[in-house]
Amino acid sequence: MTFSIHVNPKKILKQVSKYIYGHFTEHLGRCVYGGLYEEDSPLSDERGFRKDVLSAIKKIRVPVLRWPGGNFVSNYHWQDGIGPKDQRPARFDLAWQQEESNRFGTDEFIEYCREIGAEPYICLNMGTGNLDEALHWLEYCNGNGNTYFAKLRRNYGHPEPYHVKFWGIGNEMYGEWQVGHMTAEEYAKNAREYVKWMKVFDPSIETVVIGCDDADWNVKILKATGDITDYISYHFYTGSEDYYETVSTVYLLKERLIGVKKLIDMVCKRNVKIVLDEWNVWHRVMDNKLEEPYTLKDGIFACGVLILLQKMSDIVPIANLAQLVNALGAIHTEKNGLYLTPVYKAFELIVNHSGEKLVETNIETERYDIDGKMFFNKTPFSLSEVPYIDGAATISQDGKKLYISTVNYKKEELMINVRIEGMGKKIGTLYVLTGPDVNAQNTLAKPNVVDITSRSINVDTEFKLKLDASSCTTLEIQLE
Ligand code: AHR
Ligand code: AHR
Ligand code: AHR
Ligand code: AHR
Ligand code: AHR
Repeated sequence: MTFSIHVNPKKILKQVSKYIYGHFTEHLGRCVYGGLYEEDSPLSDERGFRKDVLSAIKKIRVPVLRWPGGNFVSNYHWQDGIGPKDQRPARFDLAWQQEESNRFGTDEFIEYCREIGAEPYICLNMGTGNLDEALHWLEYCNGNGNTYFAKLRRNYGHPEPYHVKFWGIGNEMYGEWQVGHMTAEEYAKNAREYVKWMKVFDPSIETVVIGCDDADWNVKILKATGDITDYISYHFYTGSEDYYETVSTVYLLKERLIGVKKLIDMVCKRNVKIVLDEWNVWHRVMDNKLEEPYTLKDGIFACGVLILLQKMSDIVPIANLAQLVNALGAIHTEKNGLYLTPVYKAFELIVNHSGEKLVETNIETERYDIDGKMFFNKTPFSLSEVPYIDGAATISQDGKKLYISTVNYKKEELMINVRIEGMGKKIGTLYVLTGPDVNAQNTLAKPNVVDITSRSINVDTEFKLKLDASSCTTLEIQLE
């Protein structure tokens, strides 16, 4: 069997949406408090932002940040989180059963987004909240007139509107676990009102209604909102102790996204797009902190997803890893420092070594069939023809740099044939993410067990490339 990758840099297929590399931060466990925000820590700046976390986040150039939940948002009242910090009320969060001090609120979130260069994406409370509260939140953020909440924002020291563009119309309202959960009919009716009136207030916003694995739900929601919403969301959590059971589900995710897209095409006249606003491996912990210990296995899954999204970003232009810090976190903090998990490393590799335009790539690979179980509730799944290698090639906006990412899911080293049309002899740089074995983890004491290494290699129009076992490799070549 031959494994090969054939790239045609002259054949540009489409623009890759920058928002596929997004993240999610929820008021859950130590994601916000003790994660990105920690008052009185010697590691924090005067705003309470952990400086070590900020610099790690800046290295993966987060384009869009979803907040404040997740399940949390469905009992969150945004007005508790503005104004003088010492006067903000503490509340009990029913979703994760912990006290919320409200010391990190809307203004702090926007400040954080500006600091890291991310577009803010706010998810609304449709559980204990209502349309009035949602409209006021929008007015507080984006209002520029003389109305109460626009003035309140200015009084609190923020003269310019925040121009929050992305608004999530509730979170997972279909689920019994969601505060105030709804039937499809109830949600469809409510969601339409939210989208409609929020867009009357600010026509420049883009809205995300809730989708899920239930086709019946999706059809009802798309029928009710497909003429006015920009996006429908989809969430995907996977993983098990088994390596192939985990990495193969990149292709289950692909099937599911294609399934949602088919429903959109069936029901809507407009091109509603998909926002994958929660995705990750999650199978080990189900306490209320969710500090999942990520391994190389999970990092390889993440590489596969990012490569998949590069190829599907016309259908799925926005995605948010769930989550960025501590809770299902790509970054793990302790009082005295942090370490970066293999999932973070996947972003570090792909985000920093990919171009803005997708070019034609053909992959030849051996494939396998698998029956497995995923997620912490062990949902069964079945897949056929899962590839052992996959990849995508991109070029920079100016056309001067070529990037070829190849993920080797196989737990064995592989020699592959590479063909790059019109290349000729050149020197490229290879970046390789891997570790000693699929269960390898980073820790505070040993932060680089799973890591990215780089070296120069000779390339040509045709050459052989060795892929390490369970690795993701990016080859970067200056074209002119
Ligand atoms: O590229 C991401 C989004 O895709 C844009 O914000 C939106 O206009 C388009 O649908
Ligand atoms: O990311 C953890 C939780 O998973 C989110 O709060 C919720 O939306 C999903 O069920
Ligand atoms: O600084 C420009 C601002 O950045 C825009 O108003 C907003 O959309 C983006 O986050
Ligand atoms: O305060 C007025 C509102 O602010 C406008 O309706 C909206 O478009 C703007 O952002
Ligand atoms: O019981 C927890 C919930 O179950 C999670 O928030 C959701 O994603 C899952 O289906």
